[in-house]
Amino acid sequence: MAKAFAPGKCILFGEHAVVYGHPAVAIAIEQGVNVSIEKFDDWVIDGKSFDHSKYPHISHILHDLFEYKGEPLKIEIESQLFSAAGLGSSAALSNAMGAALHKLINPQEKLDIIKLAKIGHSAEAAAQEGRASPTDTATSALGGCIVVSGERLTGTEHVFDAELVTPEGKRSWSVCKAILPEEIEDVWLILGFTGEASPTGKMVANVADLLSRDPDKKSIMTNIKEITQRGLDALSVGNFEVVGMAMNECHEQLRSLGVSSDSLDRLVEASKPYSLGAKMTGAGGGGCMVALSRNPQRVSEQIEISGGKPMISKLVSKGVRLI
Ligand code: MEV
Repeated sequence: MAKAFAPGKCILFGEHAVVYGHPAVAIAIEQGVNVSIEKFDDWVIDGKSFDHSKYPHISHILHDLFEYKGEPLKIEIESQLFSAAGLGSSAALSNAMGAALHKLINPQEKLDIIKLAKIGHSAEAAAQEGRASPTDTATSALGGCIVVSGERLTGTEHVFDAELVTPEGKRSWSVCKAILPEEIEDVWLILGFTGEASPTGKMVANVADLLSRDPDKKSIMTNIKEITQRGLDALSVGNFEVVGMAMNECHEQLRSLGVSSDSLDRLVEASKPYSLGAKMTGAGGGGCMVALSRNPQRVSEQIEISGGKPMISKLVSKGVRLI
């Protein structure tokens, strides 16, 4: 049997803008997805017959990327993430599946994390009508704090480049690690799930539609880019007060882009009194918000009182691994 774990992610700055080549800053969270696979006499996934249309990421990884023609597999998936909630559950699934499959097929070969991140990105794009940045998959694969951008940003360490032909043209990104202070003080991420799904493909398509109907809205992308740079600079020196302020500003820009929702706004507002900053995270339209706080229990309570489901993560977690 081959087993792997890949973490989910939380975007601190730059969601949606990153699809257009602007920078995004994402953090791997503690919670993620476990995948175990073993050879079996039939194709089975989570105890049921494997329906490829229900698992496009897994199907793409198996057949298009690994060109797997071996014996049928029994696949077990155990997710600690809210699904379709902006926490990168599909990227974590792709990475954990890719890692486990790699171990099953090439048990002697070292896991190539960068190759895995690229495989995951291709699977995400295939499942999202050809529009996906490498943010989710790279963060889940590499762990830590990842900066994905059309151009390399100063104060980051370059890891690899990614490109994709999208319906709006060819896009390329530089995937870098943010250099964070060695000692991170006692701050936490508190994720709050609205209970409503956030369909990434649809939200990304809505933004593409909005920008083509109203080109003036492109200025929102530039605003998000500036906020992201400011947030990243503050993060690199451990100035979490400024990080929080940038998160609040980023949320307002995402609202103008039409990707927030009443329930996201409610959880963000409820968290603010006990947080350094709070915003929606990921594609929006539902899904999750994230708060940065020194008082995670208090923020969790606020999220629960306001109808959300809270989850606490430390600020920096490791990437995909075989278990
Ligand atoms: C989804 O987690 C983040 C988006 O920016 C889409 C992407 O980067 O592919 C909305």
